[in-house]
Amino acid sequence: MNSEYNTEQESFWAGDFGDEYSRRNVGITGPANKIIFFSNVLKHTGSLASAIEFGANIGLMLKALRQLLPSVELAAIEINPTATEQLAQISGLEVHLSSILDYTPKRTYDLAYTRGVLIHIAPDRLNDVYDRLYQSSRKYILIAEYYNPVPIEVQYRGHTGKLFKRDFAGEMLDRYSDLTLVDYGFVYHRDPFPQDDITWFLMVK
Ligand SMILES: C[S@@+](CC[C@H](N)C(=O)[O-])C[C@H]1O[C@@H](n2cnc3c(N)ncnc32)[C@H](O)[C@@H]1O
Repeated sequence: MNSEYNTEQESFWAGDFGDEYSRRNVGITGPANKIIFFSNVLKHTGSLASAIEFGANIGLMLKALRQLLPSVELAAIEINPTATEQLAQISGLEVHLSSILDYTPKRTYDLAYTRGVLIHIAPDRLNDVYDRLYQSSRKYILIAEYYNPVPIEVQYRGHTGKLFKRDFAGEMLDRYSDLTLVDYGFVYHRDPFPQDDITWFLMVK
């Protein structure tokens, strides 16, 4: 395990697996799916001046967001150096090459969001990620992850201890008394514009 990190999941994403994922993640489903996904969420928020993605990989979601909101100020936190090289090519993007667990929020953004990232965090460190998301949000938090009513682990590409499903949004709603649920939805893989069977939850402070 890479001794730079305290959890095996961080080492996994910072190392070879994360490098290969970043090379292969060239947007198999194309940008339309991501744009349609965000447009469904943004109809509840209206325009946003700023947003931060936790675990942005090569920035495909950020690019989709910018298509919809050309003047939005964007930031990304990403642990993998190969992915971060791609993020550095995105004009005007504030990039933090860091584990979310080592990130100290210094400012807030209208929207703080994750997609497919909380599922890969060591379950006993989730509260630390929730706190950073909460502290980074001026108004909205969007969680787009694999939902399960109770915590479970499933195999991830032949690896154990790397993919966990649970009610992430419900845990945040319980943890922060000023957070309320605005809307939620499921994007089925047979949808004409699929999103890997994710369930999304939009919350507001
Ligand atoms: C499954 S990918 C999802 C990427 C992106 N959010 C998307 O929807 O296309 C998970 C990403 O989170 C990053 N990641 C995982 N754990 C992280 C951590 N502790 N801190 C920062 N980034 C992390 C990985 O390196 C990877 O880029």
